[in-house]
Amino acid sequence: MKIIYPGSFDPFTYGHYDVLMRAAKNFEEVRILVLNNMQKKYMFSITERLNIVKDYIKDAKEQKNITADTYEGLLIDYAKKYNYKASLRGLRAVDDFEMELQMANANRTLYKNFETFFLMTDPNFSFVSSTVVKQVIIHGGDVSLWVSDYVIEMFEKKLNESM
Ligand code: PNS
Repeated sequence: MKIIYPGSFDPFTYGHYDVLMRAAKNFEEVRILVLNNMQKKYMFSITERLNIVKDYIKDAKEQKNITADTYEGLLIDYAKKYNYKASLRGLRAVDDFEMELQMANANRTLYKNFETFFLMTDPNFSFVSSTVVKQVIIHGGDVSLWVSDYVIEMFEKKLNESM
């Protein structure tokens, strides 16, 4: 089965990467899909977020079944267009559950039989979120355990631009 791994990924973290690699071992294809969440204000544009994702997967040469794309619309419309029947989300803690339940049920109502699979985030990354990464780096903290060097470079560029 091929599956979509959707998210804001602002930016993609090693927590996302861990979920991605575990999924890639269990699904025929994993398509990372960078989307917009209307509830969020982003630091990186959708293209920058895709470029970050591409940088992570260029190093994952052992997994040839990982692809990436962006879409500025509904997840299920992308799924219908490219013939995907399922998506994948990582779950860090109970806090994530309510939103995930809502999204999974909304998507399955809008697109009959569209399933959402969940993987539990590795405990090492259970507290890592894109928001935590942004807060720490903006205040000069070390985020190298949580995101790639490329992400740190992109952050530094952004922070310099805004000065
Ligand atoms: O990383 P996030 O912000 O938790 O991901 C949420 C995301 C982007 C997957 C969700 O907001 C989404 O699917 N956005 C695209 C628009 C859409 O299909 N919304 C319906 C979901 S209820």
